[in-house]
Amino acid sequence: MRGIILAGGAGNRLKPLTKVTSKQLLPIYDQPMIYYPLQTLINGGIQDILVISDPNNIGNIVRLLGSGKDFGVRIRYEVQDSPDGLAQAFLLGEIFIGDDDVTLILGDNLFVGDGKFLEEAIRSFKGGGRVFAKEVPDPERYGVVDFDKKGQAISIEEKPKNPKSNYAVTGLYIYDNGVIAKAKSLKPSARGELEITDVNNLYLKEGRLDVRIYKDYWLDTGTFDALLEAGNTIAKLRKAGK
Ligand code: G1P
Repeated sequence: MRGIILAGGAGNRLKPLTKVTSKQLLPIYDQPMIYYPLQTLINGGIQDILVISDPNNIGNIVRLLGSGKDFGVRIRYEVQDSPDGLAQAFLLGEIFIGDDDVTLILGDNLFVGDGKFLEEAIRSFKGGGRVFAKEVPDPERYGVVDFDKKGQAISIEEKPKNPKSNYAVTGLYIYDNGVIAKAKSLKPSARGELEITDVNNLYLKEGRLDVRIYKDYWLDTGTFDALLEAGNTIAKLRKAGK
């Protein structure tokens, strides 16, 4: 299993904090944001990690994470010239992924908990795709899962005006190697991006997407308040010894 951290995006909602640095380098309590998704992958047992970022920020990210030696893993880097969508990670990462399966995590997604959930999810992964949904009060900001009466996922909509559930797809995705071909088949969406939601819907149509509910804290960092709350939550958990 290979891991990819996508640390792109303009961070528009956090300007001026993100004017001269990347959102993923902002502090969350005592660590830069990107440490958290990195730790999530490491806790999942992943040892080969590709970090993708934009030309302005990749240098600082390399300075921060280096070869990965300090973390006991191997880290490689790839540049995303323009923010053309999350699914582009599989095109930029094609050579890195090789014939392996791949776990993608977004550089601004914090999964806080015992950390073993990913290890289990990877260990039991048998192909197709596996994503993690979390109940949220504001689903319209995310990819949203529509479930049938039996609780089976039937579709995912990207930032719907009228969400069909309160379950957001979080920024952590496990796929088999077929994800590369799927990403190659995508057309840019109305917002001009290769959407991860379209990848997920392709797996869903094949009946090969497992949607799991994530039970621990999932912290978003997209707004000033979310960023502050994420820092405060981590501080509290740390002080409680978690
Ligand atoms: C992206 C995905 C969305 C997902 C979210 C999780 O949104 O497109 O489906 O729910 O990450 O953080 P974006 O960061 O592009 O707004």
